[in-house]
Amino acid sequence: MTGAVDDSMLGEGHVVLVTGSTSGIGAETARNLAATGATVVVHGRDRPAGEQLVADLPDEGHAFYAADFTDFDAVRAFADAVLTDFDRLDCLVNNAGTWQGERRLVDAPGSDDGVEMTVAVNHLATFLLTNRLADRLAATGERRAEERGGDGERGGDGERETEGADPAADPARVVTVSSDLHRRAEPDLDAAVGPEGPSGVAAYGYSKLANVLFTYELARRLPGSVTANCCHPGVSPSTGLSRNGSLLAGLGWKLFGVVGRLTGAVDTAAESAETQTYLASSPEVAGVTGEYFDDCEAVRSAEAAYDRDAQRDLWEASVEWLALDDSEVVGADGERAPEA
Ligand SMILES: NC(=O)c1ccc[n+]([C@@H]2O[C@H](COP(=O)([O-])OP(=O)(O)OC[C@H]3O[C@@H](n4cnc5c(N)ncnc54)[C@H](OP(=O)(O)O)[C@@H]3O)[C@@H](O)[C@H]2O)c1
Repeated sequence: MTGAVDDSMLGEGHVVLVTGSTSGIGAETARNLAATGATVVVHGRDRPAGEQLVADLPDEGHAFYAADFTDFDAVRAFADAVLTDFDRLDCLVNNAGTWQGERRLVDAPGSDDGVEMTVAVNHLATFLLTNRLADRLAATGERRAEERGGDGERGGDGERETEGADPAADPARVVTVSSDLHRRAEPDLDAAVGPEGPSGVAAYGYSKLANVLFTYELARRLPGSVTANCCHPGVSPSTGLSRNGSLLAGLGWKLFGVVGRLTGAVDTAAESAETQTYLASSPEVAGVTGEYFDDCEAVRSAEAAYDRDAQRDLWEASVEWLALDDSEVVGADGERAPEA
């Protein structure tokens, strides 16, 4: 990792949270962001791995929190602990992810049938955590602007806006890690709940489309002091992602990794961390929101992800599955939220 850390808008005194940073791409992202001088909140279920990473990071103040994203009460408790322990949050990197071989269901308070586990971990827990932390991100964005002598506004209407932005504006950021496999999925809410529906790679692709739909809706709802973007990190079969996939798919993925290393077709976890590190820290994207990135470039996502009805339907279904009320989500009614 070079540019993004050399030229970073994160630094000493700032706080970043990287979900799923006990291994793989998330751990590399945590290392990159700690190298800026920022305090890193490390998250996952694997306590020894998380605590070891905290010990290995440069400087003091980093912390590990365990929270299982199949348990929404644990996600709430995690968010509450972060809000209690840190008075600012400059960046949230939603990186935690799973790929399940079988279709398994997770209890959700507003769903009679339960939510498919890949969707629960990759999208719904991310949705809940982001909404719980949104006010703190917004307040931190305001604070960052004051620290730089601006008014905190991106300029324009807050949607895919860069021109005319206050040059001193330095919003807080939400970065959600999707995958190019989102291009294989369709926005079908029935796929997310109950025993019938996709499993394996199909369910994974669906959850990654949910990450993009969520990001586009979130970018419209957030106040101007926070941006939201998403990305494809690259292809890294060396990470732990296939550990819960089917035996056959897992073997195929690992074999692809071996061949890919010989042909240069795959990335290391460190290489895959570059785009999310860039989105979390680079001044080049300080005013950019509601975009999908690949290889540190904004590119078009699947056309299905631009469907405003699909974005709103997923948002509303997520609120329902989690049994949230309007006061618990940003920008209720699809309008931009008032400034924090
Ligand atoms: N590898 C690729 O080629 C690739 C390609 C496109 C997108 N991605 C995306 O990149 C992100 C990182 O994946 P990776 O490849 O680095 O995989 P990984 O090594 O398996 O890392 C996944 C992380 O998510 C955490 N996690 C998984 N299930 C969880 C749960 N139920 N509750 C809480 N945390 C959980 C894991 O922590 P614990 O084990 O400690 O729980 C781990 O830190 C994912 O969003 C993935 O979809 C990866």
